[in-house]
Amino acid sequence: TTEEQPSTDLATLTREVLAEQFRLGAAVAGDLTLLLNAIQVTSKFIATNVRKARLINLWVMLFPVVDNFTQTLLKLFLKIKSIGLAGETNATGDEQKKLDVLSNDIMVNALRSSGKTAVLVSEELEEAIIIEDRLKGKYCVVFDPLDGSSNIDAGVNIGTIFGIYRIQEGSAGSISDVLRPGSEMVAAGYTMYGSSANLVLTTGHGVNGYTLDNALGEFILTHPNIKIPPRGKIYSFNEGNSLYFHEPVKRYLESIKYPSNGKSPYSSRYIGSMVADVHRTLLYGGIFGYPDDKKSKKGKLRLLYEAFPMAFLTEQAGGIATTGRKRILNITPTDIHERTAVFLGSKEDVQDLIKFYEEED
Ligand code: AHG
Ligand code: MN
Ligand code: MN
Ligand code: MN
Repeated sequence: TTEEQPSTDLATLTREVLAEQFRLGAAVAGDLTLLLNAIQVTSKFIATNVRKARLINLWVMLFPVVDNFTQTLLKLFLKIKSIGLAGETNATGDEQKKLDVLSNDIMVNALRSSGKTAVLVSEELEEAIIIEDRLKGKYCVVFDPLDGSSNIDAGVNIGTIFGIYRIQEGSAGSISDVLRPGSEMVAAGYTMYGSSANLVLTTGHGVNGYTLDNALGEFILTHPNIKIPPRGKIYSFNEGNSLYFHEPVKRYLESIKYPSNGKSPYSSRYIGSMVADVHRTLLYGGIFGYPDDKKSKKGKLRLLYEAFPMAFLTEQAGGIATTGRKRILNITPTDIHERTAVFLGSKEDVQDLIKFYEEED
């Protein structure tokens, strides 16, 4: 028979990142690799917690009539007493930690103790964390610990987004090390927690996708060199905001829903988790958009830890990421929690959208 032997050659994330750095002749290949290693450990831990929280959700839905005491017992039994459902109170009446806060704590702890970071910026923390000298390293990590958190209780895909800068020459690590254009990031990626955990990463030389092998506890290279199709058939916008959209966006959406030249209209897909919507866009093509509008004057998505990492990945996969008027990666942030309009995806689709902005000006 021609039955395939199982591969004995494991393309793990750590191995691939190391190999890439050796190819580039990096003098010190170890530091970024160790940092990325710390990040993948947090992704595994968050994935486990997301799964546990979903399990208890399922139990509560199967037995909606069980009283609080029984629910508490179930949670104790499943060892998730410290997680619980978003916004619930635990057995002792304390506010339980929401999953996004828990994920934040997991990341802060792991990144700080990695000894490779100098500045941390998280969606869940008002202020940046400047790492104490004893543990200070050369990298700054900006992250959204749990993206799509409104989807948690429905069991829909959610994720973690991260971007990495190297601190500037001579800097001891300060806010100015992260208030820099996204084009200066040295790596970026996300982990999506779905039926499996998928980590998608760029270090500026293309995009690789890894899938967590639960038995091995390793992210294995399953999607090497991801490229966005030059044109797609899907658009992904929260059209419930149409009332507030500006003219170029309205006209663009009109053009793909009512094409004039006998072409088929686009399909609509919108999950409401940026990670999941961008993941689909990278693989299938099309356009994802969260515009600024009359209500959200600067848009909704955050520049540092949502727009920049996704724009970096999109460009590395051969696509375009724009605000409609300028390249996202060229923006210099002035605030760590700054927002921006985002359109990203297949080259031709995003170019079509940009034409509507040019017509407007
Ligand atoms: P977060 O859960 O980290 O606060 O981010 C939510 C974001 C993003 O995931 C998604 O693209 C967008 O919010 C969806 O917003 P709408 O619900 O307004 O469509
Ligand atoms: Mn988010
Ligand atoms: Mn979030
Ligand atoms: Mn949030």
